Amino acid sequence: MVQLTINGKQIEAPEGTTVLTAAKQAGIEIPTLCAHKELTPFGGCRLCIVEVQGFRVPIASCTLPVTNGMVVNTETDALKKSRKFILSMLFSERNHFCPFCQVSGGDCDLQNAAYHEGMTHWPMQPGWNKFAVDTTHPYFVLDNNRCILCRRCVRACGELVGNFTLTMAERGASTLVVADTNVPLGESTCIKCGTCVQVCPTGALIDRTSAYQGHESAMTQVKSICAGCSVGCGVNLFVNNNRIARIEGDWAGAVNHGLLCEHGRYDPMNEKRNRLTSPLMRKNGQLVPVSWDEALGAVADKLKPLAGKSKAGVAALVSTRVSAEAMAMFKELFTGGLVTSTEEGMTTAAVSAVGESEGVFEGKLDTLRNADLVLCLGANVARSHMVAGFMVKRALPKGLRLINVDPESSELDELADLSLKPRLGSDLAVIEAMQAIILQEGLGRAPLSMAEPAKVIEAAVQASGLDQETLARAARMLAHAVSPVILFGKGITAQRSEKLVAALLGLARLTGAVDGERMGLLSVKGEANSAAAALLGLEQQFALEDQQAVFALVGDDYLSRRMTEKLAAAPYLVVQASYASAVTEKADVVLPVALWSEQAGHFVNMDGRVQAAEKAVDAPAGIRENTAVLAEIAMRMNMPIKQDWHNALHARKTSLALA
Ligand code: FES
Repeated sequence: MVQLTINGKQIEAPEGTTVLTAAKQAGIEIPTLCAHKELTPFGGCRLCIVEVQGFRVPIASCTLPVTNGMVVNTETDALKKSRKFILSMLFSERNHFCPFCQVSGGDCDLQNAAYHEGMTHWPMQPGWNKFAVDTTHPYFVLDNNRCILCRRCVRACGELVGNFTLTMAERGASTLVVADTNVPLGESTCIKCGTCVQVCPTGALIDRTSAYQGHESAMTQVKSICAGCSVGCGVNLFVNNNRIARIEGDWAGAVNHGLLCEHGRYDPMNEKRNRLTSPLMRKNGQLVPVSWDEALGAVADKLKPLAGKSKAGVAALVSTRVSAEAMAMFKELFTGGLVTSTEEGMTTAAVSAVGESEGVFEGKLDTLRNADLVLCLGANVARSHMVAGFMVKRALPKGLRLINVDPESSELDELADLSLKPRLGSDLAVIEAMQAIILQEGLGRAPLSMAEPAKVIEAAVQASGLDQETLARAARMLAHAVSPVILFGKGITAQRSEKLVAALLGLARLTGAVDGERMGLLSVKGEANSAAAALLGLEQQFALEDQQAVFALVGDDYLSRRMTEKLAAAPYLVVQASYASAVTEKADVVLPVALWSEQAGHFVNMDGRVQAAEKAVDAPAGIRENTAVLAEIAMRMNMPIKQDWHNALHARKTSLALA
């Protein structure tokens, strides 16, 4: 530890800490603009200057490492004067009309810094170049006239997201932020994650949806969990007048550390589906609005005589986007019949089954932070689980090597050091061939028995269409990695093959990806609560036999056309959903329910974290929460249900350790 003094206060800080961080940890705030806790210090704006005994001039604290015996002052009159001067220069360089700006909604650091220094006007006459405003992007506007050239957006796009779309062009007073080779943002390689907007300290990158929607201090901030996919990103929901005005990634989020993808940040704001506003019942062939009492009474009357029967009873289906509380109640209510999830175990069944026999073997996404090689199989994480994809993409320039194995073409192909395109369905052969090559060459880190590895390799070459040298190259890269991580997705799990997953686990052990405490094997799964559905055993395939009724808890999810067709064949169909859809049109009873943001609940992410999503807004009048509807049906059917979701989640041992 290093001992130093800041503003007369003796403090300790770990070696390598910057003065800015050390001061913050000691409760001393230093104004900043270009610094951000998730970004590498840059030292561009100079607002964080401090006086250090022995230094001739003030120095930027965000790039200055602490040293033993250092004496620092952060609040002298000279520093205050300098900061005001720095701000004055910034204001004079571009069109920063901060005192009058209504766009920022109070989250503009430049505006706040000026108020903090007591500035009320431009002390210097502005004299700026006029830059064209780029409005080509669907979600945000790039206005270089408001830019202070702090490069937070450029750094975030590269360092955090790994996309490297934004960069700087020109020089001096003409310097500006551009996309790619100065193409319109809307036509660039931007993946619309909005991280640049979230880190922008001014109004240079403006979110179209929340601009002019009110001052941030007038909004309520609700910390919650994104229900978009199984990564489970922490979000901050900015609520104004019972409406979500903006969604930001939570910098304190355990999984995402502030990042979000396009879907998490913008999809809830751009919902186009029609909301269901009243219970509906089919009468004379038409769906007509009815009271909750009538709808629930009809459902209970229909389901009660069928309860507990297996084949002739009820087939029940639940979305993997609903909370663990709702899923556990749903399972209790329909036990005895065909009870499954909308994913039918496709993204989890084989993995859970191997976990039941082998114990916990899946790790946490954080393992990617220290990985030096990622073997990605059947998972286009750059598209399907984008924040997990960011974790891979951003590490590539730092030396992470990537092997992508996927018969489908994917964004990862261009980024990978080695991209393998085996024939569809030959994954097992490819994995066994890698094992065989590692064994043959004596590169294994754990024992694995295999008869006649040469024949296994030969068979894989035939099955996959890959040549032996390519397979050997992949196997050697994996075997020589110090901290390899194996990441697999739907391309593997949709095959529902325990043998395939067991072979991957074998490869992970052989190469040290899974070794004692080290858990470098991850399946990305499907939706926000796929893992909860797996833990609750909702992994059967949905095949109607003689069931007399189907209950589908869809919530605010989408159903595939295939599943919609299956449900349409039901003799009696109850759909619990938030939006009108092709499946509600086929229903006999429709029960309208709250959205993800209108009810609290727990979600288990892909690496086993049990996280709480909070209610942020009230549902429209007459709409009920998923759990309230299930409880009411259970009561009307005289079925006592325990509602013990927590214990229910822990009842089954699978591949995941819950945290
Ligand atoms: Fe230190 Fe900008 S915050 S130079």
